[in-house]
Amino acid sequence: MNADDQKRACGEAAALLVKPGMTVGLGTGSTAAWFVRALAARKLDIVGVPTSVATAELATSLGIVIKDLDEVSAIDLTVDGADEIGPALALIKGGGAALLREKLVWEASKRCVVIADAAKRVPLLGKFPLPIEVVAFGHKTTMARICDALTECDLGVAPRLRVKDGASVKTDGGNLIYDAACGRIEEPALLAAALKSVTGVVDHGLFLDLADMALVGTPDGVVTLEP
Ligand code: A5P
Repeated sequence: MNADDQKRACGEAAALLVKPGMTVGLGTGSTAAWFVRALAARKLDIVGVPTSVATAELATSLGIVIKDLDEVSAIDLTVDGADEIGPALALIKGGGAALLREKLVWEASKRCVVIADAAKRVPLLGKFPLPIEVVAFGHKTTMARICDALTECDLGVAPRLRVKDGASVKTDGGNLIYDAACGRIEEPALLAAALKSVTGVVDHGLFLDLADMALVGTPDGVVTLEP
């Protein structure tokens, strides 16, 4: 199976975890989109809570009933992709700029399942640049303080403002993204705390102790991983 086949296979496997009556967090990205398509094809009586405008549009177009996070009392299961899956199912997310809504939905969920192709598995997080969401006001000042936080964590990297087609990328919440090419994140919990302590940082793409299970597509089929 190539990478896209692997994404599709794990999205389809995750859709089988959904039971009628569930409230389901719907992730963002190309792998999560396969899950949303497979879920819609099952035509179950469920409610979806999308993690981005793009996912909301996809789910609605496929006939899935969606609600906002604040409209539901609990989320039974969230299924979402990742940019890196490290040891203990520590993740880097946010390559699609949806990390804030994703984390809000993940944290409100009873169970979170990450789905990804095999290339996303890494022995150590950090090769994929870590997305950091910041408020637009004073973002260059915030970036300088992020640099200090990274230096405290022995990561001497200068995050780069995410730009697409010549314009800064804006998240669904109207914030900006800086990407920090850390290389090796030896102590993700320390880094997560340091980044969250910076005023102006809304959140970052480290998802630690949140994933309960991973379904990873491999050339030979889908494998299940637990923390
Ligand atoms: C969205 O912001 C991300 O967290 C995605 O879940 C992540 O980038 C994975 O995307 P793909 O499934 O497209 O690789």
